[in-house]
Amino acid sequence: MRHGTTNGARQESGVGPEAARRRSFAVISHPDAGKSTLTEALALHAHAITEAGHINGKSGRRHTVSDWMEMEQARGISITSASLQFDYRDTVINLLDTPGHADFSEDTYRVLSAVDAAVMLIDAAKGLEAQTMKLFAVCKHRGIPLITVINKWDRPGLDALALMDEITERTGLTPTPLDWPVGVAGDFRGVLDRRTGNYVQFTPSAGGAHVAPQETFEPSAAAEREGVLWTTAVEESELLAASGADYDQESFLAGVSTPVLFASAVRNFGVHALLDVLVDLAPSPGPRPSVSGEPRAVDSPFSAFVFKMQAGMDTAHRDRLAFIRVCSGLFERGMVVTSARTGRPFATKYAQQAFGRERTVIDTAYPGDVVGLVNGSDLRVGDTLYFDKAVEYPPLPTFAPEHFAVVRAKDAGKYKQFRRGVAQLEAEGVVQVLRSDLRGDQAPVLAAVGPMQFEVAEHRMAMEFNSPVRLERLEYTVAMRTTKDWVAALNAERGVEVLHREDGELLALFPNSWRIASVRRNHPGAVLEPPVAA
Ligand code: G4P
Repeated sequence: MRHGTTNGARQESGVGPEAARRRSFAVISHPDAGKSTLTEALALHAHAITEAGHINGKSGRRHTVSDWMEMEQARGISITSASLQFDYRDTVINLLDTPGHADFSEDTYRVLSAVDAAVMLIDAAKGLEAQTMKLFAVCKHRGIPLITVINKWDRPGLDALALMDEITERTGLTPTPLDWPVGVAGDFRGVLDRRTGNYVQFTPSAGGAHVAPQETFEPSAAAEREGVLWTTAVEESELLAASGADYDQESFLAGVSTPVLFASAVRNFGVHALLDVLVDLAPSPGPRPSVSGEPRAVDSPFSAFVFKMQAGMDTAHRDRLAFIRVCSGLFERGMVVTSARTGRPFATKYAQQAFGRERTVIDTAYPGDVVGLVNGSDLRVGDTLYFDKAVEYPPLPTFAPEHFAVVRAKDAGKYKQFRRGVAQLEAEGVVQVLRSDLRGDQAPVLAAVGPMQFEVAEHRMAMEFNSPVRLERLEYTVAMRTTKDWVAALNAERGVEVLHREDGELLALFPNSWRIASVRRNHPGAVLEPPVAA
């Protein structure tokens, strides 16, 4: 056995420096803000690929991601990618994917438990949008430092100062721009680097497919080149300085302020700056708090937790992948680790890195890295794995579902398979399962953050558990936590229903938030709280 020794000190030497040169982050954004384009541009700049479009090509570009599942292929969206790793300068960057669009799900939220920082990507013409705000709330709750990127500055959009005001008002964060655009949205010439006072001018590359050249000029040369546009940028930057909007590392790391960059992902503008910010300012993996309250240092023996499970992928890989984030120590493929929940050993013979359909075998990994473990059927989302010295990380939270459907076995004779399948999907966190005496065991309610979770459940029930199901969507869109005392009163309300979840939580389902308001008027003392956990 490779790890027959309990000499943790020997095993973990060198882990500290490796952890220190890692940056693990995710992009939070609303669909269409440019996340895929930015991902490609980042990898292009880091020379992970040679031409933009190789990672998540959309129409007209080279296609590579998604399509592990047939339905993915049909829709041309990705529900299975996990993380992309690339080197930049002397740093290893892990970009964890946050599924969006229709594939928005609990996984999207859970990814945020596995990152040390996030990039909040905003469309310059749209400002902060709904999905960004939902993900921001999770980052805020977890105290994740946020870097803001205002994208699509090459297109007409909102005023830069107005965007800063919107960030302040809606997120409570103090925006501290690191650079400031020269030229309004739609006329992007370059940026004033607020740290050096210099002008960084961008030159378009053909279609943004290659790294865009940039040139730096001293302020006097910038004034000569850009005239009033430069003066305006300088004045606005001074205005920002006067209002306390200069970068501050401590408040950034504390999740109080957010450095801001202006970019055009499609033209490859501002992408280098983002990589440099990740390397220079974003945090490396730190000690992770465990359930005992004692944080586990990164150079302790190996530990990790499962943040995502994936199953039912293409026929060439019919297996179950458990994605883990390494928290401490060195991961070496082949090591036998222990699952904190079951106490059972888990052999890591098959470890992979996966982004989209590309999979490569991983031999070693360090804190901050993501590893896909094949044959992870015994593992669940939130499970801790450790080597040598026991540890358990807090369970991952369950998020407020917004989609609900009754599920029934198509073939009543297959009830046993039906029950087993539903229980498995619930345990894996694919869907939440809600029950009530009224509805009975044969027709529980599935609850999900995104509608795609239902399709995954339906697909897996048929293909994996041999129990095809019928789903009937319900009109509810909001779930609120309540208590036993209020069940009868709430059930008596029109369009409201209380169900219980496996973890004992009682959830009252409502068609919309207006209905909640009116029920509150009828029952001023009713316990109705958003079910977002810590
Ligand atoms: P998403 O992953 O966040 O959903 O967004 P995605 O990158 O797919 O970008 C959505 C659309 O916005 C794409 O156009 C993309 O080209 C465009 N886009 C992204 N970044 C920028 C930018 O900085 N400036 C401008 N002007 N456009 C940008 P599309 O027409 O939907 O797709 P495509 O055919 O161009 O790929």
